[in-house]
Amino acid sequence: MILIDGKATARQLNEDIKAKIDGFVQKGERPPGLAIILIGENPASLSYVKGKGKACLSVGMTHELIRLPEDVTSEAVEKVITRLNQDPLVDGMILQLPIPRHLDADRLIDLISKDKDADGFHVINQGYMYQKKPSIKPATPKGIMTLLKAYDLDVAGMNAVVIGRSNIVGFPIARLLMDANATVTICHSRTSDLKQHTKEADLLVVSAGRPGLVTKDMVKKGAIVIDVGVNRVDGKLVGDVDFEQLKDVVSYMTPVPGGVGPMTIHTLIHNTFELYQANIKTKDQLNTPGIL
Ligand code: GUN
Repeated sequence: MILIDGKATARQLNEDIKAKIDGFVQKGERPPGLAIILIGENPASLSYVKGKGKACLSVGMTHELIRLPEDVTSEAVEKVITRLNQDPLVDGMILQLPIPRHLDADRLIDLISKDKDADGFHVINQGYMYQKKPSIKPATPKGIMTLLKAYDLDVAGMNAVVIGRSNIVGFPIARLLMDANATVTICHSRTSDLKQHTKEADLLVVSAGRPGLVTKDMVKKGAIVIDVGVNRVDGKLVGDVDFEQLKDVVSYMTPVPGGVGPMTIHTLIHNTFELYQANIKTKDQLNTPGIL
């Protein structure tokens, strides 16, 4: 089994972005900026947000963390989003999910300018993606595609099975895999015979949030397994896949931690850098005499 090392891949790709940012800054441009809105005290979200801030620092991006209390009103969140939409130093913005239930996540995300939507969750960017138009793509699915490419794994013609149908991972990864010419099946909590589907998978992407869900008897010999699960069991981070059982059966597999997680963060950085480049280009055009 070949271990798919997301940590090393992300580090390399982040170094490439750092070099490009250094180039812009040496030419007198400001660095890119990401704003992160975190509501409440969810420990997993706190840890993700810390990782995102650290990654910004490592590539020479500025970042601003806006922490709001669990009982914040929708109006107060809207005010923050409006301010960040208007701030010329903010190229990308994310609202860390999940958010408390009294708030409407879809509505708040759609208030983020689609041109600052570093997560690709805005309804317009989702629409572009599902129409196969160029757009900012959600970080985890795009990070998985980047990781497969880094290992020269071409999914064209493969039977790909996705477990999970969330808007953040399951549904969009199915779209991206289909765009890459895989034949895709989406399984979920109401799938009646999960094993019947997973047994047929050349590529299995697991994003169910259930530790130990995928066992040895459920996978085809030589399959590629991408474990998106992040679960804390007895104080230890584990995925959705029984790694020890699968390691002698599959051909490639991502570990948890060190697999998909670092690629999600890399893709957020990549997306923010893309938004930055579009932003400074627009500014340069506005500054060119004769254009306006
Ligand atoms: N929560 C879990 N994954 C993500 C993500 O990719 N972006 C945001 N904003 N929240 C998340």
